[in-house]
Amino acid sequence: MSEFKVAVIVGSLRKESHNLKLAKALGKLGKGRYQAAIVSIGDLPLFNEDLEKDVPAPVARLKKDIESADAVLFVTPEYNRSMPGVLKNAIDWASRPPSQPFDRKPTAIMGASPGTFGTARGQHHLRQILVSVNALVVTRPEVMIGQAASRFDAEGNVTDEGTRKLIAELLAALRDWTLRLRG
Ligand code: FNR
Repeated sequence: MSEFKVAVIVGSLRKESHNLKLAKALGKLGKGRYQAAIVSIGDLPLFNEDLEKDVPAPVARLKKDIESADAVLFVTPEYNRSMPGVLKNAIDWASRPPSQPFDRKPTAIMGASPGTFGTARGQHHLRQILVSVNALVVTRPEVMIGQAASRFDAEGNVTDEGTRKLIAELLAALRDWTLRLRG
């Protein structure tokens, strides 16, 4: 694998999202080791089987972006102790036949929240859902970033060394996992 390509799916649509900042920071943090491209999910319609007769363009693009990446990384907040609805909507769309791009896809999860739990509970729900689409999710390290507001500088860089190290470890684990699954 010359360049490790990761499709990053962000579970928050707001402009000042901590998780979006985290996803954008991956670009700099991964220089020379991986390429992280954010996949947009904000333009997906709400899932409706009636729309499947003529698959909406954003859905086709989402599937293609997942298929063409070596691995997928979810970067998401937790809403009401679960994953945000926009993320579940994206997974539901991507799960529909004929193509099922999550099937056996090497996948990882990280998340940031302003509180102390760092998205722990939401991440566990997301893991459960990913079993259903047969995504193969890395288990360690768990990257659950609390007190998110204090983790970035004005340019969106991750400020503390511990968090940067944890992120690097998860991306390295995802790369190893991807290579291992390819045999
Ligand atoms: C939240 N928030 C939240 N935080 C948390 O740690 N556990 C939770 O269960 C929830 N629930 C929740 C529900 C809803 C509907 C909203 C809008 C928010 C707070 C949440 O972590 C906070 O708004 C983050 O800043 C959202 O992530 P982004 O947008 O900064 O990436």
